[in-house]
Amino acid sequence: MRKKITIIGAGNVGATAAHWAASRGLGDVLLLDVVEGVPQGKALDLSQSGPVDGFCNTIAGSNDFADLAGSDVVIITAGLARKPGMSRDDLLAKNVAIVKSCAEQVARHAPDCVLIVVTNPIDAMVYTAYKVSGFPRERVLGMAGVLDSARYRTFLAMELAVAPRDVNAMVMGIHGDNMLPLVRLANVAGIPVSDLIPAARLAEIVERTQKGGIEIVNHLKTGSAFYTPGLAAVEMAEAVLTDAKRVLPCAAYLEGEFGFSGCFLGVPVVVGARGVERILEFPLTPEEQTAMALSETAVRNQMAATGL
Ligand code: 2OP
Repeated sequence: MRKKITIIGAGNVGATAAHWAASRGLGDVLLLDVVEGVPQGKALDLSQSGPVDGFCNTIAGSNDFADLAGSDVVIITAGLARKPGMSRDDLLAKNVAIVKSCAEQVARHAPDCVLIVVTNPIDAMVYTAYKVSGFPRERVLGMAGVLDSARYRTFLAMELAVAPRDVNAMVMGIHGDNMLPLVRLANVAGIPVSDLIPAARLAEIVERTQKGGIEIVNHLKTGSAFYTPGLAAVEMAEAVLTDAKRVLPCAAYLEGEFGFSGCFLGVPVVVGARGVERILEFPLTPEEQTAMALSETAVRNQMAATGL
């Protein structure tokens, strides 16, 4: 029986996620949007790449949320994207209403799915989806850490002129300026990056990672990144659909882990068929704990602004 992935939001991120999901053969893909014609047109275009790419699954577009039925994984990308001069927080008021509506539809039509939220500000939007859907915390994840860690790994690989896939590095905390790219644990094939890159240069790479989103917004001027955000969400979906037990940094609802409770923060998660199968807790240094506390404060401010 084929799996079903539904992506709500047929904008740049959603359509890119649909492309990656189809190309990786994860299952039948449904692209859902309220705008007439857009999901249908993009789905038809994507499906016509099947003979060339080789995937066999179907890609469909719809404006009817009842078509969510039977989804194993739902990815919410719907919402406004940043423009130059905007923070992710500036999107909150408009996007909370959109995500609330999406989460209500998901709870109604796909009550057993694993829900992955991409819409910004992600830590508040995944909290919104969690509260509104009524799903257990295991089945609600926020996509940010995979994206931020991919940027961090890319910048480290560029610095060392090595293959990005041989760089292992993780970003925890909020998807925002206070995110925590962990230097202590970053390595190239097991070699600590602190043995290969001077501390001052590492600090510059950390800052570039923290501002990785706005760097692209300032180039594009009309919106934000979408290729890697789309792929990052699919990486999480694939771990769910294949029960891969991947260890991925995701925004998860904490109940005491790392000393935090009652909020979503980016932490290392074992992702499998049930969604958040386990949170891999490990001792943080006092500086890292302080950084995570800064993230928590920023996230709680966003949560308060949702009114939930
Ligand atoms: C980013 O960091 C869109 O928040 C996303 O690019």
